[in-house]
Amino acid sequence: MSANMQQDWKHWRLRREDTGLAWLDLDKADASTNVLSSEVMSEFARVLDALDAAPPKALVIASAKPAGFIAGADIEEFSRLDSVLAARMLVERGWLLFKRLAEVRYPTLALIRGHCMGGGLELALACRHRIVVDEPGTKLALPEVMLGIVPGWGGMLRLPALIGPAAALDLMLTGKSVDAKKAKRLGLADDCVPARVMESAARIVALGGKPAGKLPAKERATRWAMNGPLRKRVADKARAQAACKVSRANYPAPFAIVDIWEKYAGNALDVPASDPSSLDAIFSSPTARNLVRVFHLQERLKAFGKDSDFAPRHVHVVGAGVMGGDIAAVCALRGMTVTLQDQSVERIAPAIARAAKLFERRHKGDAKQVRFTLDRLIPDPKGEGAARADLIIEAIFENLDVKRSLFAELEARARPDAVLATNTSSLRLEDIATALKDPSRLVGIHFFNPVPMLPLVEVVQGEATDAEVLRRATGFVRRIDKLPLPVQSAPGFLVNAVLGPYMLEALRCVEEGIAPETVDAALVEFGMPMGPVELVDTVGLDIAVAAGKVLAGEGAEPPARLLKLVAEGKLGRKSGEGYYRWVEGKALKGAGKEAAPEGLLARLLSQLPGRRSPDARPPPPIPPGLAERVLAPLLAATQRCVAQGVVADADLADAGVIFGTGFAPHTGGPLHHAGSLVRHT
Ligand code: NAI
Repeated sequence: MSANMQQDWKHWRLRREDTGLAWLDLDKADASTNVLSSEVMSEFARVLDALDAAPPKALVIASAKPAGFIAGADIEEFSRLDSVLAARMLVERGWLLFKRLAEVRYPTLALIRGHCMGGGLELALACRHRIVVDEPGTKLALPEVMLGIVPGWGGMLRLPALIGPAAALDLMLTGKSVDAKKAKRLGLADDCVPARVMESAARIVALGGKPAGKLPAKERATRWAMNGPLRKRVADKARAQAACKVSRANYPAPFAIVDIWEKYAGNALDVPASDPSSLDAIFSSPTARNLVRVFHLQERLKAFGKDSDFAPRHVHVVGAGVMGGDIAAVCALRGMTVTLQDQSVERIAPAIARAAKLFERRHKGDAKQVRFTLDRLIPDPKGEGAARADLIIEAIFENLDVKRSLFAELEARARPDAVLATNTSSLRLEDIATALKDPSRLVGIHFFNPVPMLPLVEVVQGEATDAEVLRRATGFVRRIDKLPLPVQSAPGFLVNAVLGPYMLEALRCVEEGIAPETVDAALVEFGMPMGPVELVDTVGLDIAVAAGKVLAGEGAEPPARLLKLVAEGKLGRKSGEGYYRWVEGKALKGAGKEAAPEGLLARLLSQLPGRRSPDARPPPPIPPGLAERVLAPLLAATQRCVAQGVVADADLADAGVIFGTGFAPHTGGPLHHAGSLVRHT
């Protein structure tokens, strides 16, 4: 290509070819990722002015960053908005600018390689064509709903028009991303091409050499009907689906998206301020602010481990039970070679079978990838991998003596630089560490069950733990794409220490005669992903008794009904009965509505068993103050953990409780919530 004319702005670069084709690259100055800050947007307006003055034959918009196309709007700027008016102006500027882009006379094409999120996708949607590059990093999404806001720069207008409202609402209400192939399949992209031909493909399509693929007539007719006469039916269905997951009071944005598409042609600016779907309503509700807070908390957790380049190639896991098996599988999924040790091959086999199912789901049936991943997960009954591993994770029975002798043996066989970690929930790290010649080598890496689904991992510093070992353990947690939370060694660390008293209070309510269904419904209504009684059943009543002893301390009596159920062998979900009866992994509830997952973690947690079904019976009447009563011990325990230095500060405590328990994200976390109650009284 000969670029015979180049024009530069601070963030944009425009090259013109002899063919008349213009290439516009976004390369946001002083940033590794492209985001649509105010400056980038106002410069884009000037670029459009320049193009108006000398229209090209066609325009290709791409990114000059290896990191991806465009990550979205600038969240920092967004967090600083201090009034509804300012928020409205931000929406208006983007809406008008992308409308202008959509109306230019020359053909436009977005060449999308890597992530293309939020405002980035709205920009691409305003182009006439889109080409996606077939690479694992290419992901397209409108994730605004996760921040409690709506895709106001044209997404609600153009995505339903392009791919049909059913698919578009699904993407906008969940915030989920699609990869390059799926984007092509949905009609979101005109074409999906390998990187080596992307520029020539873009040139051909932009210059009109190749018409965009047309949809079959039947599909076009369906989309037309759904966007027209069937609009209300589609909208009602989407609303009903959203209502199964979240309540409008806690999460206004998904309902607003449906309303704005249905009644306001996708234009949020047209909604009157008095309407619950208006920008005014969305930006003045605390939900959007709190979800942005949760986003920042997540970024803070992600930043842990940045100071370590520890990237274990070989992980050795001892104990192929519930936890060890899944930890091994998750490491293999992330490209690590894993040796999995247990007392016999028979004990390892179920873990491998479970891993195979996980790999099939994650690789979406790509048999070759499933095979490669399974090849990395090696059953190792003799524990030969321990001598070669960069990291050894112990996940055997919760028994101090057995763990101590295992670690003494592992230390003797492990490489001197290997990290030694335990997944213990309730034993003191210090008691295990003294079995080692060098106790500073031991660190806690505490996962949550189910490992593939729960994002948080507590990284536990014992009294003796070496700082570098801690850094490496944290780095490893990031390498498997989990969120590390540094905690001090203390009973229950953070997450179990706050969940214990909360579950206990719920069981006390049951003891007093309140139905488990009522207790659970109260907390689900508050926004918890699952009621606390159902959670006790899921964790196992025997575990709850054991944990209660450790956490509640001497003198605290476990509830009589809990002890009676355990004595009868009713251990909850795993035995088929506890506080509820369980059938096919679901709790049978008498009168009540079943648990509904809420919020940021809704999709994640909705994969957990025992979710509410849309046809749930009406909820039992909830006594006033019930949710507050059950939450009070959780809030107090979180405060205590901060006061005792189990976590470094209140924000990290909130982060840990949200990502470790699914605590109602729309509240911004337990301590933030407690603070806002104080502020409002
Ligand atoms: P599990 O009972 O499902 O699995 C333990 C496995 O360890 C069994 O397969 C057993 O054969 C094997 N094992 C025992 N001694 C061994 C030895 N000396 N060498 C090799 N293998 C041995 O237990 P689970 O639930 O997976 O728990 C494991 C650890 O993870 C415990 O320390 C527990 O506190 C912790 N944990 C458990 C959680 C849970 O929800 N289950 C959550 C977080 C941590």
